[in-house]
Amino acid sequence: MEFMPVENKYLANVETLIPMPDLALDVLAIAQDEDSSVSDLAQKIEQDPNLTANILRMANSSYFGFMRQISSIQDVIIRLGRDTVKVLAITSASAGLLNSPQGAYGLEPHALWNHSYASAILAETIAGYVGYESKFSVFTAALLHDIGKILLNTPLQQAIADKNIISSQTADIELERTLLNTDHARVGMALLIKWELPDEIITPVGFHHIKEGANAVLMNTKIVSLANFLVKNIGTESIDETTSNHIEELFAQSQIDIDVPNFQKNLVVILEEFFNSFREASAML
Ligand SMILES: [Fe+2]
Ligand SMILES: [Fe+2]
Repeated sequence: MEFMPVENKYLANVETLIPMPDLALDVLAIAQDEDSSVSDLAQKIEQDPNLTANILRMANSSYFGFMRQISSIQDVIIRLGRDTVKVLAITSASAGLLNSPQGAYGLEPHALWNHSYASAILAETIAGYVGYESKFSVFTAALLHDIGKILLNTPLQQAIADKNIISSQTADIELERTLLNTDHARVGMALLIKWELPDEIITPVGFHHIKEGANAVLMNTKIVSLANFLVKNIGTESIDETTSNHIEELFAQSQIDIDVPNFQKNLVVILEEFFNSFREASAML
């Protein structure tokens, strides 16, 4: 970790800002471990009544479309699979911390959560479309892509006050770099390294605002960057006619190249699928 000295400075009081869910991380580790059994995983989850309740509630929502009640964690794992349980665990753990307001960025309560959750669902939709095999990691990376903002919010507010900057209330990445010598993507990456998440989750978070270089052109980084860009520019509900007619220009503006046949042509269809999934997924929370 010595290699990110500036970023690590902002991790100093991470435990008070982001009381991370040791347990959620344990759940991920066990779910990842092929030698662990269903009951190992269930037992771990059941240590946290909140997590257990959330997972059961989400698993029983219409999103998954089961007619019969799922009444135990064992049942969830058997019927929905380990990957889904991982998604549910990380979603449940992140919801609380991403819901807090982040004033330096002009983010009201829930705004960061909404943006992050929508980006995650869209990233997962795009991953399915382009045939990227690890949908879970793309979902998680997109969910956590702006987590660095939680750590930079207070230092940024301080720096803005110190320098008497008349800010338009919405700090952007340039302002972060000027005032703090780093940005939320890099600080987020440092945090996920500390949490020992896998590289396939860490890299897209660290590079979601970078357009060039080996890490920026990885498919998972591009998917997360594009999901972030589209959610920011189009929102989460519907696409109006003007935007729909100019979707190719918008896509060009993103400067992200998804090298899959007909991707651009199908972007509106992908977005429609996302709006539906997001509506259903939001109802599940
Ligand atoms: Fe970002
Ligand atoms: Fe973002």
